[in-house]
Amino acid sequence: MREEEIIDAISRVEVRTGRERTIKSYVLRSTKLDEEQKKIVLENYEKYAVTFRGEMTEPGALFAHPSRPVIIEIGFGMGSSTQIIARDHSEYNYLALEVYLVGFVKLLRDVSRLQLDNIKLMRFNAVDVLERMIPDSSIAGFHIFFPDPWPKKRHHKRRLIQPDFVHLLASKLKKGGYIYCVTDWQEYADQMLEVLSGEPLLMNPYEGFCPPVSWRPMTKFEKKGLDKDYKINEVWFERR
Ligand SMILES: C[S@@+](CC[C@H](N)C(=O)[O-])C[C@H]1O[C@@H](n2cnc3c(N)ncnc32)[C@H](O)[C@@H]1O
Repeated sequence: MREEEIIDAISRVEVRTGRERTIKSYVLRSTKLDEEQKKIVLENYEKYAVTFRGEMTEPGALFAHPSRPVIIEIGFGMGSSTQIIARDHSEYNYLALEVYLVGFVKLLRDVSRLQLDNIKLMRFNAVDVLERMIPDSSIAGFHIFFPDPWPKKRHHKRRLIQPDFVHLLASKLKKGGYIYCVTDWQEYADQMLEVLSGEPLLMNPYEGFCPPVSWRPMTKFEKKGLDKDYKINEVWFERR
């Protein structure tokens, strides 16, 4: 790819449909890359990133080892737990989605340093990626760690975990595939449990919240929550 193509690919994060403004689960902070960040992007984009295309794509084909099951992480932030999970679980491929440019560049740098061949990054709205690129019944799992809680009532509609979005996630899962969400916001945790329980394609193998998952490393958000004595709730559902 030429330099302009790479810069163009990371500059656009959503599909513009011409419809009136749709509700977004994120706020975009405008960021100008410094020289160091630009260098990281130009050197690593082609090897470790995927450009959004509005056509269905076999997810395994994006990776060096196409037969490994694909896990999608939504909203990886700075990617600190993402890279550890990918490093420790080479039996899976990870497609990591985030719109936050600083986090995207940071994880791009980290995965290139670790030379991981089982992770690809996309700077794009997860809703568009799932709707337009990911075929039904093709994904082994979803990770959604500490999604923005949007605490004010008038903002609750911006939360990711809503019935329509959960149905979209469930339809992309293979039979037995999982959705694993974690939050430190009690009322959002209750909403997650309620919404996922209400999706007919999913079943909860646990009674309510699931026990802590041992392989998930602690993130900055989690530590902040724990420092404030917030309870961490984890939710694990599987595709019927
Ligand atoms: C509170 S942060 C949590 C980050 C990380 N998972 C962690 O545990 O540290 C939530 C992240 O989700 C991202 N996000 C929200 N909606 C998104 C969407 N539709 N597509 C991609 N990323 C999204 C935001 O940009 C933000 O960085």
